[in-house]
Amino acid sequence: MSVEIIPTDAVLGAEIRGVDLARPLDYATFCEIERAFNAHAVIFFRDQRITPPQQVAFTRRFGEIEFNVFGERWSVPGSPEIVVVSNATEDDRPIGVRRAGENWHSDMCYTARPPRGTMLYALEIPDLFGLALGDTEFASAAEAWDALPQPIKQRIDGRRAVFDFSGRKRAFPPTRAEIDRFPPVRHPIVRTHPQTGRKCLYVMRDDCTGIEGMEAEEAEALIAALADHIVKPAFIYRHQWRRGDLLMWDNCTVQHRAVQDYDLPRRRLMHRTTMGGAVPM
Ligand code: SIN
Repeated sequence: MSVEIIPTDAVLGAEIRGVDLARPLDYATFCEIERAFNAHAVIFFRDQRITPPQQVAFTRRFGEIEFNVFGERWSVPGSPEIVVVSNATEDDRPIGVRRAGENWHSDMCYTARPPRGTMLYALEIPDLFGLALGDTEFASAAEAWDALPQPIKQRIDGRRAVFDFSGRKRAFPPTRAEIDRFPPVRHPIVRTHPQTGRKCLYVMRDDCTGIEGMEAEEAEALIAALADHIVKPAFIYRHQWRRGDLLMWDNCTVQHRAVQDYDLPRRRLMHRTTMGGAVPM
């Protein structure tokens, strides 16, 4: 395969051309894709036709599959590694996680080893008058760190925040048993990317409920200020989906949110897989 990497006009993101993910990927091609993933933080392949096992196998090339708690309720039959993300219903029952990721976040930051990355494969995309709805926005937490003034960099580097699974409001609230599986964890609010060595801000509203050694009021204000900074327009790439897109993002370098500008009868259906990560440093 002859791979072409076309960066978007934003500070992150690239389209990868010349790859058919339904065919076996040789080692050299995989390495090129992985380099692009590290460099651009969000990469996407258009016009793919892959089966659930092919998506799982491709995800595994980047690390062991990470199981998501919502996948226990909504996974693809025969592929428990894939979480169904959808607003659709069958017999009045949701077929997937609805309104997943509507607020800015990094996936599973509430775990001790948050996932390296996440993949979404687009099966159905809603539209209005032929205009695609249900975009996903990505913000570069690495560019956001680089742009911070030196005094605030010095003030926050080395500090740790508390990440709490129950902090975020979800369309499908977790059960008590699910909450108990994820006691609060502490992570550095300035992470170093394990592959690129770039520093990235790692702070989210709601998920971060405090900062070690800081009064609650000051911590809340600092978390809000940093969370707002990360999602400034200069740091954002907005992906307009097409059916057949396979897109993957790096959970250290970017935060993301799903734009909720559609509803039934317009259906959106995605298959999501998540690749295991390391303890944030
Ligand atoms: C997510 O946050 O995993 C979902 C993103 C999306 O559906 O666009």
